[in-house]
Amino acid sequence: MATRYAIVGILLVCLAASINAATQVNCTKQIQQQSQNYCHMWLSRFVDPQGTTLTKHQEQKQQDSLLQRCCKQLGTWDEICRCSDIRDFTRLQLRAGNWDAPRRERIVKEAPSLLKTCHLGSKMCQI
Ligand SMILES: *[C@@H]1O[C@H](CO)[C@@H](O)[C@H](O)[C@H]1NC(C)=O
Repeated sequence: MATRYAIVGILLVCLAASINAATQVNCTKQIQQQSQNYCHMWLSRFVDPQGTTLTKHQEQKQQDSLLQRCCKQLGTWDEICRCSDIRDFTRLQLRAGNWDAPRRERIVKEAPSLLKTCHLGSKMCQI
């Protein structure tokens, strides 16, 4: 009797595993299909400290629309792909070392809470 249950149990585990494999999401594929990654653009946006090129109002408008596009795009990806893309991008930028301190500080602050900022749940992404 116990053996029979064990066999049924093993079969169920195998079935679950194969279903899981078949539905596994390829995040790389899903994300690289997009010609633009608006969240990467958002996280690496340049904020002109002097405000010489745009008025504050113009700059605000531009940033709002970029964030909107980022959030919209982020929402189309599978949940499991969202944080991994944000994390990979952030790590890459920090490692590359091309950014000045204010930009680095900004991404470190903004990237973990981007899902929250986008109203896509309350999950914080580990960077
Ligand atoms: C995901 O998709 C990419 C690009 O199409 C491909 O190179 C990669 O091998 C795929 N990865 C898996 C685990 O299927």
